[in-house]
Amino acid sequence: MIAQPAFPAEPWSVRETTLDLDLLGQTESVFALANGHIGLRANLDEGAPVAIPGTYLNSFYELRPLPYGESGYGYPESGQTIVNVTNGKLIRLLVDDEPFDVRYGRLVAHERELDLRDGILRRSADWISPAGTAIRLRTTRLVSFTQRAVAAILYELEPRDATVRVVIESELVANEPGIPTDADPRAAAALEAPLQTEGSSDRGARVLLIHSTKRSGLLMAAGMDHVIDAPERIEISAESEPDVGRVIVVTTLRPGQRLRLVKFLAYGWSSLRTHSALQDQVVAALAAARHTGWEGLRAEQRRYLDEFWASADVEIDGDLELQQAARFALFHTLQAGARAEQRAIGAKGLTGPGYDGHTFWDTERFVLPLLTYTAPKAAADALRWRARTLDLARERARELGLEGAAFPWRTIRGQECSGYWPAGTAAFHIGADIADAVVRYQAATGDDEFEREVGLELLVESARLWRSLGHHDGPGRFRIDGVTGPDEYSALADNNVYTNLLAQKNLLAAADAVARDPQRAAQLGADREEAAAWRAAADAMVIPWDETLRVHPQAEGFTRHEHWDFAATPADGYPLLLHYPYFELYRKQVVKQADLVLALHWRGDAFTAEEKARNFDYYEALTVRDSSLSASTQAVIAAEVGHLELAYDYFAEAALIDLHDLQHNTRDGVHIASLAGAWIVAVAGFGGMRDHDGQLTFAPRLPVALPRLVFRLRFRDRRLEVEITKTKATYVLLEGAPLEIGHHGQTIQVAIDEPVTLPIESLLPRARPSQPHGRTPSRRSPDAERLAA
Ligand code: BGC
Repeated sequence: MIAQPAFPAEPWSVRETTLDLDLLGQTESVFALANGHIGLRANLDEGAPVAIPGTYLNSFYELRPLPYGESGYGYPESGQTIVNVTNGKLIRLLVDDEPFDVRYGRLVAHERELDLRDGILRRSADWISPAGTAIRLRTTRLVSFTQRAVAAILYELEPRDATVRVVIESELVANEPGIPTDADPRAAAALEAPLQTEGSSDRGARVLLIHSTKRSGLLMAAGMDHVIDAPERIEISAESEPDVGRVIVVTTLRPGQRLRLVKFLAYGWSSLRTHSALQDQVVAALAAARHTGWEGLRAEQRRYLDEFWASADVEIDGDLELQQAARFALFHTLQAGARAEQRAIGAKGLTGPGYDGHTFWDTERFVLPLLTYTAPKAAADALRWRARTLDLARERARELGLEGAAFPWRTIRGQECSGYWPAGTAAFHIGADIADAVVRYQAATGDDEFEREVGLELLVESARLWRSLGHHDGPGRFRIDGVTGPDEYSALADNNVYTNLLAQKNLLAAADAVARDPQRAAQLGADREEAAAWRAAADAMVIPWDETLRVHPQAEGFTRHEHWDFAATPADGYPLLLHYPYFELYRKQVVKQADLVLALHWRGDAFTAEEKARNFDYYEALTVRDSSLSASTQAVIAAEVGHLELAYDYFAEAALIDLHDLQHNTRDGVHIASLAGAWIVAVAGFGGMRDHDGQLTFAPRLPVALPRLVFRLRFRDRRLEVEITKTKATYVLLEGAPLEIGHHGQTIQVAIDEPVTLPIESLLPRARPSQPHGRTPSRRSPDAERLAA
């Protein structure tokens, strides 16, 4: 865990004021920079010490065998693992005769700051070498949002009190020593030296290295170029070997003098393009970056982020740490998806090797709601990537004896990579999550071209899967048996409520889409008859209900299972999946992560207020939050049913997941779904935003500790700002045509220069539900009840 004061609370920065080597793995992830295409972990410039070296290119992976003790039909035979590609971050320094290394000599001061408005990572170090030479080093890094193939580092060096001879080696290094392997299934498969050389060259201060993967057949090029500004005579030389490229700068600096080096980095990869095409692409990217220059890249970065924050910012008064965490969360989610451009958005973004760099349902369920309302193009691109994998998903469905498309539970390129099918392939709800993201994206943007090009096909193929996976029973009800819902501590269950309600929506949306565009539908072989069968299945969908307990079992029979013995489970027995056999978890009432409660959010239109309240309390007592994908959903429904303080506690848990390393695995990469979930809590929890049937409605309410919350979002070419205080909400249209929205059940119109302010009635407080023994979230505001009284 990261102790609370590790990062002082500041509104627009995450700052580390001393270098704690025990937290290096975590801070490498927290301070990672990415643009959705390139990801750089915050490894120290000089390369050591290092916890996990990491440079990633979206979807650049290697194949590895998936060995099974007992294999079975349809098991995937190989897995995909993200590759730590050629490291261009390295800048080694020799001060007189001593290598700069924070573990030697004396580190007088060290600070790193992730600036969320500038989109850069600043580092400064005051160091005295073992021989007594004092230097000051400042480096600034960025991964460009505007030039997607480019990253850059500004490296500035000054001697403090004596003349020094300095040698700087700016490097590109491929096949860095791997990371230690880990028994935790959530960590990554280590790949030893995954890159084979395809060529290297140097010219002036520019070096290129080209490599390929051995099995996945991908080619990549990494290039670096430099602009160096030195007060005294300098010598510059370059050399390139298969796995190392170096530009060496030698000079002397007197006190008061400064050496300034800008390192431009460019990356490209392809499965199709030739060696020379890729090389030319990287040379061109480097030339463009040099042309823009360091100051130009910085200015572009700032402009890009100014525009993002203007339609995405969340302001939180009364809790500065949460303010910081909420912006950090938005920033990392943007970094994961901004320029992914029809490639996958991974569960860790491009910040670490966790989960092998795979993409899960996390993208559509948690990340796309945020991107849809703040950076809609990135949301569309993520769905276009899914559409590009449709052939593979259709093939997978055929292999499983099903119609339509079966999307992979975890993947990089589109093939199923889950070797454990009860929690992988059987989690068919991913298809409905994708369909749901399509429907919400289309409703929020009115992007007709998207619907024609990809939306309709995604809806049709996912609806076909449900139609073939489920069946009408004797009385004609439509059942979807033997699937795994979001709660992975139950598997192969019949009629999971979340799955069935989302499938129902998927079937109806597909039928509506076919009716809207029969011509395009006909090209996909879909007609009114097929659509009628989807509607019939949707209308007859089984939604189990426990009449005795008056709650929804998350799947048929669930509420009859024995309760997990929480009192006998020690604190170090969590996460349960690492300490108990799945067989035990599956047959007991214990919930890994919000499942029925997730249905209460995204299909809230299918439940009464009373059902929501009773269901929420029931599942609170069973949910252990062994996944980071739970707290945000619990927060949203807690807020809706009136447990505002509990919602606040969960908000903090979701938002601080990485800044406090709450799951003890931030070193493997940040938890993008939880971070995106923090935005969902602000907007859908305390803002009460829902978008059922394309209608935007709000039901704002704040917990005691927060006097004011403001958020902005994009909706159908408009920008809307919602300002919430304890007693009223103000809706301000910042851009676009007048808009009809809902406020606590009342329909209103907002127009530019005509903000609407409406009162918020307070709720009668309800008794706080209990969680499993030892799993109560930390109280964010211990004196909230007293303050409320
Ligand atoms: C969760 C999954 C999730 C995965 C990747 C697991 O712990 O249970 O639902 O997709 O993490 O974030």
